[in-house]
Amino acid sequence: MIKILVSDKLSSDGLAILSNGGQFEVDYKPEITPEEIESTIEQYDALVIRSRTTVTSSIIAKANRLRVIGRAGVGVDNVDVPAATKKGIIVMNTPDGNTISTAEHTFTMLCALARSIPQAVQSMREGRWDKKKIVGVELYNKVLGIVGLGRIGGNVAKKALAFGMRVIAYDPFISDDAARRLGVTLATVNEICSKADFITVHTPLNDATRNIISTDQFNLMKPTVRVVNCARGGIINEDALCKALETGKIAGAAIDVFTKEPLDPNSPLRKFPNVNLTPHLGAATTEAQEGVARDIANQIVEMLRGEMIHNAVNAPTTDPAVLEKISPYIDLARKMGRFLSQYVTSRVCELRLNYSGTILEYPTKPISSGALVGLLETNTEGAVNFVNAHVIAKERGVELVEKTSSKLYDLSSLVTLTVITEDNQKVSLGGSVVFGKQPRIVSMNEKFFDIRPEGILLVIENHDVPGVVGQVGTLFGKYHVNIDQMTWGKDESSDKAITVINADSEVPSGLIDELVENSNIISAHIIIL
Ligand code: NAD
Ligand code: MLT
Repeated sequence: MIKILVSDKLSSDGLAILSNGGQFEVDYKPEITPEEIESTIEQYDALVIRSRTTVTSSIIAKANRLRVIGRAGVGVDNVDVPAATKKGIIVMNTPDGNTISTAEHTFTMLCALARSIPQAVQSMREGRWDKKKIVGVELYNKVLGIVGLGRIGGNVAKKALAFGMRVIAYDPFISDDAARRLGVTLATVNEICSKADFITVHTPLNDATRNIISTDQFNLMKPTVRVVNCARGGIINEDALCKALETGKIAGAAIDVFTKEPLDPNSPLRKFPNVNLTPHLGAATTEAQEGVARDIANQIVEMLRGEMIHNAVNAPTTDPAVLEKISPYIDLARKMGRFLSQYVTSRVCELRLNYSGTILEYPTKPISSGALVGLLETNTEGAVNFVNAHVIAKERGVELVEKTSSKLYDLSSLVTLTVITEDNQKVSLGGSVVFGKQPRIVSMNEKFFDIRPEGILLVIENHDVPGVVGQVGTLFGKYHVNIDQMTWGKDESSDKAITVINADSEVPSGLIDELVENSNIISAHIIIL
């Protein structure tokens, strides 16, 4: 039975979906310790987390059965994604479920900061009437600078425009046109810092965005600037922020996320009267919690039922209709990869894929991944799959080269795999899918065939002289191996031919030994597909 560990709080709706009508066993352990996860993870097919659980490389090392880690939320910075990818484990998130809540939280922080709402509430609670002391600023006509104009940043922009703010943004992955359609003008980070009255960051945390707002940027800001971070701790450098607040370089800050969470009770950030802090509440609404729980549960169940992979951060998402069209080619490419890895006798250093014909109307990346899986799986310890094939290939020094051409030989589509080994062996296989869904290997080293890529194949290279077929057939008879199909390929320019036999049962080594003793036979390889 499929077993799922839920190691963080998840809504009851999400848990019910995960059970897949009672077919999957769900262990709900929202208080489980990291040590307990590590010691039990090998029992599970799926792990569902929110932000409390950190999935480290040592947990992943023990996760021998794990197929998917599902993060109910956006950030996957609490998962060692490279380690999961290497192990072939899909990591998926729910990018949409908490966009609105986080954008609303950001805007609430912005308004509360502009009008000192927390300070006013506190003063009332303490019995004071600070009407003269607390004076805010309007948002209207002010410039909001947004760093990261994605789902949340874009939504914050819409809200700001509705408040009559002017919005400028920095996002190297957003075109001028897309920004203009949102009513936003693109700018550099430094332009934002020198022009904006309010600045809010909405990027993921990575090497490019860590400290994107630091001392140099604070030095460019007007003293009236207020900054907001509801994305990830560290995008705004916390030490530089404290310095800017201490020296009066900025007017205030509102921060929901921190470099280290929970925030240290003695953190200097807690002491500034013009700083509003919330304990990572961006997505803390009933709607967002239920939304992300339902999304991750549905995604995991669909994946475990083998239907569809949504929102994987380390594997491509493919539309089911497209997948139906290309999956015979993925299977075929995988078999051709297996064939080639068993045929060559030394390390493959390059795999070339050439696509032609109608297959080019579809994405070919999954077919290339299939070819890599086939090439690597016959001689790799541990699972090779679509998630880790590219990583393993890179580690082994196998370069993948993908090209397209118009060479079709009367077929509607042709996929050609060529491997080159470190000692310069070069072997090519061409494949196509015929009569709807039937895979065929149609060529080997430019010699044409009709090979069914299944079961046990014997591939013989022989001199093209009379009598070879009879000699091979006689040997098969002697060893009581039935020939299911036999096909030949040769080209006019050479005196060599290739004979491929689909054998009904295992081919004994004695048969191969006798075969290669025959002076007409150059080589014989058994290929198991
Ligand atoms: P998103 O992927 O939709 O948007 C991120 C944007 O950042 C993208 O447009 C991307 O192009 C841009 N970006 C990437 N690198 C950049 C760089 N170097 N400089 C500038 N822009 C860059 O993500 P989202 O769903 O909008 O989430 C944004 C952030 O909010 C993430 O860090 C996420 O983890 C965080 N988040 C926080 C909470 C919370 O509870 N506080 C909730 C949800 C999301
Ligand atoms: C996220 O990345 O989705 C947010 O930080 C919310 C959460 O803590 O899950």
